[in-house]
Amino acid sequence: MRLLVTGGAGFIGANFVRNAVRERPDVRVTVLDSLTYAGSREALADVDSAIRLVEGDITDGAVVGKLVADSDAVVHFAAETHVDNALADPEPFVHSNVLGTFTILEAVRHASSSKAVRLHHISTDEVYGDLALGDPGRFTESTPYNPSSPYSSTKAAADLLVRAWVRSYGVAATLSNCSNNYGPFQHVEKFIPRQITNVLTGRRPKLYGTGANVRDWIHVDDHNSAVWRILSHGAIGRTYLIGADGERDNLSVMRMILRLMDRSPDDFDHVVDRAGHDLRYAIDATPLRDELGWQPARTDFETGLRDTIAWYRENQSWWGPLKDAVETTYEERRQ
Ligand code: NAD
Ligand code: DAU
Repeated sequence: MRLLVTGGAGFIGANFVRNAVRERPDVRVTVLDSLTYAGSREALADVDSAIRLVEGDITDGAVVGKLVADSDAVVHFAAETHVDNALADPEPFVHSNVLGTFTILEAVRHASSSKAVRLHHISTDEVYGDLALGDPGRFTESTPYNPSSPYSSTKAAADLLVRAWVRSYGVAATLSNCSNNYGPFQHVEKFIPRQITNVLTGRRPKLYGTGANVRDWIHVDDHNSAVWRILSHGAIGRTYLIGADGERDNLSVMRMILRLMDRSPDDFDHVVDRAGHDLRYAIDATPLRDELGWQPARTDFETGLRDTIAWYRENQSWWGPLKDAVETTYEERRQ
């Protein structure tokens, strides 16, 4: 299979590519990535000789058209992904997430007139908005879209484009909406790596508001095993929610990081809350488990977090050069 992976130099995409190269010798991977501040060649260093990395923008119709024409399947990860950045400057989110997805869809539509091209579109649970803290409910694939932020609204727009291209043009696409990922190579702007690297650089960890907000954590390996399952066995046009029953409030995650790093439980600062901060996300992944037989493997969060802390301890050469700039930006935003 000739597989095109957009955003394959980012956190989740690079994990997907590394696992694909290790586990699927029948797959030839091409990565299309514009190497924004969030993209990193180093995340692909282990598999460098086994893949082709094309540095280019997913809104470039000529580049995308040629790469899609040479592919049997496309997994579309590329996006602007950080909510705080979207609040500060939404324009790149509209560009990459909406126009970028449109460009991918048009290329798949045109290539599909002469041969089969399979598309899997990667999305987020944030398209559903948020749940109340005490609500026992979880998101399902029939939960109405209700995005809160400039990030999630552009992801919602992209999802709707994909659905329309399936229905109107017969594009052979599936979609997945996953909860919060953690693991190696996640950018230090995100919650878990930010706190770990704050401790490692002698800074105090930062908690938005009271820390009561709940996220549904999944290890990045489990997200990507689900993506493979959907790409191989998913029904065209279907949306699958990906989650591993990992609900935890931010304060508990903060305290677990501090305990695993031998710090006292209150050794952090409360900082100004995120505007419009979503309260709680929770995924019901029953159809993915029952219909496609998927099971997450890394459901022991404390073990996953311990491994992630160890990875950041051992890989300061990767994240160190990014850290000061991220913290300067946060200081300017008082976060
Ligand atoms: P990331 O920010 O770590 O990586 C994004 C990658 O996309 C980078 O390599 C970047 O260079 C590339 N990119 C951005 N704009 C581009 C453009 N215009 N053209 C080409 N490349 C471009 O993101 P991530 O956390 O790995 O997320 C990947 C995907 O998964 C996104 O679609 C995101 O919405 C989705 N998602 C993420 C999470 C999470 O917890 N991180 C959860 C659910 C879904
Ligand atoms: O739910 C899936 C989404 O998860 C993905 O679609 C996004 O791309 C990804 O960034 C993530 O979004 P969140 O906004 O949930 O992740 P973030 O790591 O930015 O924040 C997680 C929680 O931690 C959130 O409630 C805000 C809080 N937070 C974040 C940072 C950076 C803090 O308390 N302190 C911080 O320093």
